[in-house]
Amino acid sequence: MSALFTPFRINDVAFKNRIGMSPMCQYSSNNGVASDWHLVHLGSRAVGGVGLVMVECTAVSPGGRISQGCAGLWDQQHAEALTPIVDFMHRYGTVAGIQISHSGRKGSAATALEGGSHLDADDPNGWDTVGPTADAFDPDGTRLWKAPHALSVDEIEATQAQFVHSATLAANVGFDLLEVHCAHGYLLHSFLTPLVNTRDDAYGGDLRGRARFLLETVEKVRAVWPENRALSVRLSVHDFAEGGLDLDDTAQVGQWLKERGVDILDCSGGGAVPAARGAIGNRTAEQPGMAGELRAATGLPVMAVGAITDPHQADQLIASNTADIALLGREMMRDPHWALTAAKALGVDTRHVLAEQYGFFVG
Ligand SMILES: Cc1cc2nc3c(=O)[nH]c(=O)nc-3n(C[C@H](O)[C@H](O)[C@H](O)COP(=O)(O)O)c2cc1C
Repeated sequence: MSALFTPFRINDVAFKNRIGMSPMCQYSSNNGVASDWHLVHLGSRAVGGVGLVMVECTAVSPGGRISQGCAGLWDQQHAEALTPIVDFMHRYGTVAGIQISHSGRKGSAATALEGGSHLDADDPNGWDTVGPTADAFDPDGTRLWKAPHALSVDEIEATQAQFVHSATLAANVGFDLLEVHCAHGYLLHSFLTPLVNTRDDAYGGDLRGRARFLLETVEKVRAVWPENRALSVRLSVHDFAEGGLDLDDTAQVGQWLKERGVDILDCSGGGAVPAARGAIGNRTAEQPGMAGELRAATGLPVMAVGAITDPHQADQLIASNTADIALLGREMMRDPHWALTAAKALGVDTRHVLAEQYGFFVG
């Protein structure tokens, strides 16, 4: 048996293998409501034998979306659209995960398919953004980003309540794994990183102060998220920029998250400032190794992500105790049946990897 195809468990959540699809924005929602695209996009990876399928970053409020096409979970209509998709994923034995998020100062953008540039609030598709300070994401770049409104403490608490509401809806839908998005320069990460957060109140200053927004949010979310299900946080484990967060910082944050009941860390990188390339930039491939360092430093299970394409590479990440789950983003777009590809490459019995409608004939 290859390590990649061994089962894994967090609380009552049983993963049939260590393969996951990373959350990826699809720009296919209407007013945040999931569409038939989501059923096909997420459902086909479930049919393809993936152990964990993550729904894209899903906003806790309309202004928490990145673009008008982004997914949301702030209202019952969002929950109702997601329910049959989660039921479908469950039918094929996949753990259903969702990433809840607020875009912060990187919101009010065109979709990536339309260039991803900032849209002013007077654009019919734009809105006023928020952040830890009034500094824009890219004030000097060719793609001008408007200055956000610096959140007051009352507004921070109101945003945390939106995360809690979204988590409650996700629990009712039946998601098994909830992930709080604290990476890529979006709101929670923008508070955590010294590259962006220069506040001098209780939500700024040293690492503990900058982590306050995240830690309080996670505490409040954990209180409503069922104990027997899994709670994850996606971190940019390294800011990939001078003066930014490094692994020592994120190991400390990971420790604090562990104390608050987080079950697993999803280890991404970069995105806080234009100079910080990660996520899908030139330092992405460094992330899986960093996940291993965070795992060793915190004792928490981790998901590794970044330029994982080869089955032997993914298998080695699990076998070497670098990661507990290997997340694939773009490779899953290329090959929705990557789990079968991996099973063949690793000499694993392929009969039960795909859903039986396919597996019976081609497994
Ligand atoms: C189209 C696209 C959309 C993405 N959307 C998200 C997202 O919603 N949330 C997130 O945390 N990361 C997002 N990412 C980053 C991926 O989850 C993943 O971390 C990144 O692509 C690196 O993995 P890969 O090299 O396997 O593609 C996105 C990446 C792509 C290509």
